[in-house]
Formats: sequence, structure tokens, C-alpha cells
Amino acid sequence: METNMSLKDPRSMTHGTQFNSRSPFLKQQIWAIGGGKGGVGKSLLSSSLAFTLAKMGYSTLVVDLDLGGANLHTVLGQSPPAKCLSDFLNGSAPELKDCIVQTQFQNLQMIAGAKDDLKITQISKEKIQSILTALDRMNHHFVILDLGAGTSAYTLEFFNHAEIGIITALPEPTSIENAYRFIKASYYSRLLDVPRFEGIRPLIEAAMTPNHPLGIQSPQQLLTETNFQNPALAMELRNAIKNFRPKLVINQTRSQTDVDVGFSMKSVAKKYFGIDLDYLGYIEYEPNVWQSVRKMRPILAEYPHSRIAIHIDRIVNYLLKQARIEHTLAE
Ligand SMILES: Nc1ncnc2c1ncn2[C@@H]1O[C@H](COP(=O)(O)OP(=O)(O)O)[C@@H](O)[C@H]1O
Ligand SMILES: [Mg+2]
Repeated sequence: METNMSLKDPRSMTHGTQFNSRSPFLKQQIWAIGGGKGGVGKSLLSSSLAFTLAKMGYSTLVVDLDLGGANLHTVLGQSPPAKCLSDFLNGSAPELKDCIVQTQFQNLQMIAGAKDDLKITQISKEKIQSILTALDRMNHHFVILDLGAGTSAYTLEFFNHAEIGIITALPEPTSIENAYRFIKASYYSRLLDVPRFEGIRPLIEAAMTPNHPLGIQSPQQLLTETNFQNPALAMELRNAIKNFRPKLVINQTRSQTDVDVGFSMKSVAKKYFGIDLDYLGYIEYEPNVWQSVRKMRPILAEYPHSRIAIHIDRIVNYLLKQARIEHTLAE
């Protein structure tokens, strides 16, 4: 990603911010919200993170990349804009920037998702690349990607491209299962992008294929198998696992048991996959959400003092702190 030194200090913006020092974000950051399943709260989380960052004074762009079921504009209370992602994909908008619309909220801009009429799920690799290149060149503090359900190649590509990848899951078995599937798929597809793992490509592909005769079921087993074949690469693979730290949010919790699902997923991911999940926290089930959806108002605009607002604030502050630490380390 390009270094962008021209970003404004958030303190100069009208909303002000809780940060007193010079903006630590010299580079735009991309955060992606994924998760295996539809209806787990990806759009609620993306729109709420974006809304909160914008309110803090950060220039924020939220992009609907749910190519199969775009509805972020509705969650943000916007009517479908004149230009959206489809226009960039079919060439009627020459640049992705042409599809940006200002929302009714200060510092918050949006790119609405694709219209249904396009065969969007068959989007070419070149188009994905052109979206990623264009996103990297946006002039915002934060770009938030609201991803689609499932583990299609393009969704994993967007997820892996982001500086921060957050997986959303509900505290129920099907959603948890899908989240694990997403974590594994995202890890394997990262490995496929690394040229030095070319030598174990057949093993990675075997791990990605259900019921493959090699029977590699997890990143941990991939490591064991690689160690047999190529111990030097196994060392590198161990490092790759260490550097992969997807984040997890459990949504619609109703009890402490639901909240604890995040902790058990963290230990399962470590024990069976060797992957360190970063459990960011939970968002309680909030009965008022449907009312805000019906009124076409973001939940945080309609209920700024709701429990959801408290949970989102906590998650945002944690991520900002982490982003600043990582930025300092990279200097
Ligand atoms: N914490 C929550 N409390 C109550 N309803 C929620 C909560 N999170 C999501 N919902 C509702 O669940 C539905 C799916 O959420 P959404 O964000 O659209 O999921 P996704 O983008 O993953 O498909 C929406 O109707 C949304 O309003
Ligand atoms: Mg959605």
C-alpha cells in the first residue's frame, strides 16, 4: 500500500477526537469484515465501525463488497445512489472514486454495492485487482470493507488484503462452523499468494479440498505434512501461522455463555489449527435494531447510548490502539 503523507490530522476536523497527539496514521488503513455466513451482522458491524470512526473525526469510507446481496446503503439509511460498484465493474464509471457518495454523516463516505443485474459473482481476477489498487489509493484514514457471505476467492482476496480482518459469528453451531471454515480458507489462500510456498502448493490445495485422499484437515496437519517433505519450508510455514492473526467478534449475544463462545473458539483455533485468533469482543442482541432498520437509520445514530454503541466503542478503541502500536513498530 502507498504511504500517504497528505492525510489530515483528525484533530483539524470538526467533530474533534479523543486523540491529543499528532495522527499516528500516516497511512490509510483498510479493515475488512467477513465471516462465513449471511445474516451474522457483517453489515451491522461494518457500518457501526465506520460510523464510529467518522464520528471520532477520521475520514472514513465504507465499501459494500457483498457482491451477491448488497444492502449496506440501507443499513446506513441512504437510498440507492446514482453510482455504485456495478458502474465501476461494467466500465460506466471509469474510476472507483467516481462511485463514492457522501452520506448524511460528517466524515463518512460510502461506495454502495453492486446492483443485482450484473453477474457479479463471476467477477474477474483483474477486476478484483483493480478494485484493490483503487482502494489502496483512496485518501481516507480508514476504508472499511463489508464483505459477502461465504469463502469465495474474491471475498478471501479482499479479506487478506486488509490490514485488519475481522470475522463475525453468531453464538450458534452453524455460524461457528462457518467461521472456522472461513478462517482456514483465508489462511490457505494467503499461502497460495506467497511465491516461496510454491513447492507445497499441491499440499495446500489438498488441504483446501474436502475429502482429498491426503486427508489434510487443518493448518496444523498441513504443517506436519510439510515437515515430512520439506523441513525448511515447514519453518517458514510456522512463521506464516504466527503472523496470521484474524480477529473475531461474536454478535447477538444473550448470555455469558454466548460471550464465552469467543474464548472457546480462540482455544479451538489454537489447539486444532495452530492459529491465534484475536477475540475483540462481543455485541449483545439489541431488540431495537429492527426499529432503526425500519426507519432506515444506522443503529448508532438512532440509539447513540445503546449497549451496541458501548460494545462498538470498545472494539474501535482496542483496534485504534493496536493500529497505533503496529504503526510505531513499522517505523
Ligand atoms: N446485535 C444485534 N442485535 C439485533 N439484531 C441484529 C444484531 N446484529 C445484526 N442484527 C440483525 O440481523 C440481521 C442481519 O444483520 P446484517 O448486518 O445484515 O448481517 P450480514 O451483513 O452478515 O448478512 C439484520 O436484520 C440486523 O439488523
Ligand atoms: Mg451484509
